[in-house]
Amino acid sequence: MFRLTVFFLGFLAATCSGASQLDCPDLYDIFIYDLCYRIYTTPANYTEAKDNCNIHNRPLAVLHNGYQGSYLASYVNAQTGVNNGAFWIGLQRASNTSKFYWDDGSAMHWNFWNFGYPNGFNQVGVSTLNRRWMTLDESEKHVYACSYDPSQKPITTVSTTLETTTTPSTPAPTTSTVVPTAAPTNAPTTVVQAETTSA
Ligand SMILES: *[C@@H]1O[C@H](CO)[C@@H](O)[C@H](O)[C@H]1NC(C)=O
Ligand SMILES: *[C@@H]1O[C@H](CO)[C@@H](O)[C@H](O)[C@H]1NC(C)=O
Repeated sequence: MFRLTVFFLGFLAATCSGASQLDCPDLYDIFIYDLCYRIYTTPANYTEAKDNCNIHNRPLAVLHNGYQGSYLASYVNAQTGVNNGAFWIGLQRASNTSKFYWDDGSAMHWNFWNFGYPNGFNQVGVSTLNRRWMTLDESEKHVYACSYDPSQKPITTVSTTLETTTTPSTPAPTTSTVVPTAAPTNAPTTVVQAETTSA
């Protein structure tokens, strides 16, 4: 029954997005609209959740639109049985007067706030009751999802342009450190241990 539900949901997602769930390189993951998601069923606080995604070169779940959020919420319900709580997504702000940013570094261009939110807290969870967003105490432990773009292949070669264009007589070139604006995400071949759901 449980698996049937999951597969049915997967079929719906694939149908609605015009792509196949097989687009996710790992069968534990679900493809919704344009991203793959992996659900983690062990509740964690926001930092733990984010760190566990980032250590696998993925952001804590990014949502590109309302369809993705609603569908992911349904899927989390099915996977975890959490139907009256929340799950963490990769959306937070530095302080309650700052702008919200997704965990892939992109700005928040759309929102689906629950009534009365955002409040004074700065990390965002999605209500599994109505799919709307809530700022929550970051120390709360919730299930969560990581996301990645299955169309982005892992980088296997390194450009040698800089080496070949170096002129020998030049003193050490001045280096300007470029800080990436977003963590490199979406390395789909990373082998991670999938958490299993306990019915
Ligand atoms: C926003 O944060 C400040 C400082 O952390 C705090 O004093 C204030 O109460 C917060 N505002 C809300 C609405 O919680
Ligand atoms: C989150 O969990 C980690 C590991 O248990 C802990 O070190 C950290 O203090 C927690 N953060 C918050 C805000 O509760």
